[in-house]
Amino acid sequence: MKRHVKGNVYWVGKIDWELKKFHGSEYSTHKGSSYNSYLIREKKTVLIDTVWMPFAKEFVDNLEAEVGLANIDCIVQNHAEVDHSGALPELMRRRPDLPIYCTANGVKSLKGHYHQDWDFHIVKTGDSIDIGNGRSLVFVEAPMLHWPDTMFTYLAGEALLFSNDAFGHHYASELLFNDLVDQDELYDECIKYYANILTPFSPLVTKKIQEVVGLNLPLEMIAPSHGIIWRRDPLQIVQKYAEWAADYQENRVAILYDSMWDGTRKLAEAMARGIADAAPGTEVRVHNVAKTDKNDVITDVFRSKAILVGSPTINKGILSAAAAIMEEIKGLRFKNKKAAAFGCYGWSGEGNAVLNELLKASGFALADEGFKALWEPDADTLQKAHDYGAEFALKL
Ligand code: FEO
Repeated sequence: MKRHVKGNVYWVGKIDWELKKFHGSEYSTHKGSSYNSYLIREKKTVLIDTVWMPFAKEFVDNLEAEVGLANIDCIVQNHAEVDHSGALPELMRRRPDLPIYCTANGVKSLKGHYHQDWDFHIVKTGDSIDIGNGRSLVFVEAPMLHWPDTMFTYLAGEALLFSNDAFGHHYASELLFNDLVDQDELYDECIKYYANILTPFSPLVTKKIQEVVGLNLPLEMIAPSHGIIWRRDPLQIVQKYAEWAADYQENRVAILYDSMWDGTRKLAEAMARGIADAAPGTEVRVHNVAKTDKNDVITDVFRSKAILVGSPTINKGILSAAAAIMEEIKGLRFKNKKAAAFGCYGWSGEGNAVLNELLKASGFALADEGFKALWEPDADTLQKAHDYGAEFALKL
């Protein structure tokens, strides 16, 4: 059902309350999500993005009932990933003549997904469409934020930026606007979204923010494609992105480990105490990566200035959950963080060396060679692990 946003702009998207996993099973959505589609009703009626495929029929039926498909003049597809373009096949089946405005990469991506020759109109940064009543749409390409095809659309006359995934978050709410929702929940979902999706593109985020701010356009609202609309102080999320893109870190250390018989867990906890004793203001987070939501772990890595990663040695390597989180960490290309490895072993003890190589390949500066414990750690070994944690904290 459509909701009023601003002027003649309406939200016509879908709130997905029951979504618990996104991008297949890659991203946990503890608080659901929304696929935001917007309708602008000036002399021209313009649809900005659509919704995910499972909701295509519901979405198009709603548009028919509330707007009339015959009254839509064109579609702006800011990004072709299926959570935003998934209703296009149903919509185009019922209105095959609709022009679709998107980037050149958007055409490739939409054709790649749907194998259709729709009426594509390629736009570039600075191109605009007059939609009547003193309003126009101005396009800004934003490649790799977070796909090659991504663009933003600015509604001049309303000072409203349709930013697609950027500034979004997976958060289902009927409240629609940022000033109405729980601020702590909103912040948690925004930083999780940035940490897990946008971290590798941080240099591009910095450049794009500088470019858009440099345009000196008035900005009264930012309407992303997931979550709520930034109405109160919309620049707050832009400022946060600028901070997060600048090799963000807090006074925090994340300890990630997996354990077979609890020895490596005991090392992790002793090190956490050592860090706390040596650097009392430092927040320490300890995660068994086989048991903790991986996106929450990644968010803690993002917020940390250093990480300790632990695994016992198995088959001359490391446990699979430790390997999996390192693969995730490697892909996200964190910068300006220190690290060290630790773990128990029984005879050969290659785990630390394997972790050290993975940490180096992931861009972390190794604080030292790490901490190894032969067999089950006794009180003396746990004291050494504590002291190792304390020394590690003092190196940060
Ligand atoms: Fe929300 Fe990149 O799709």
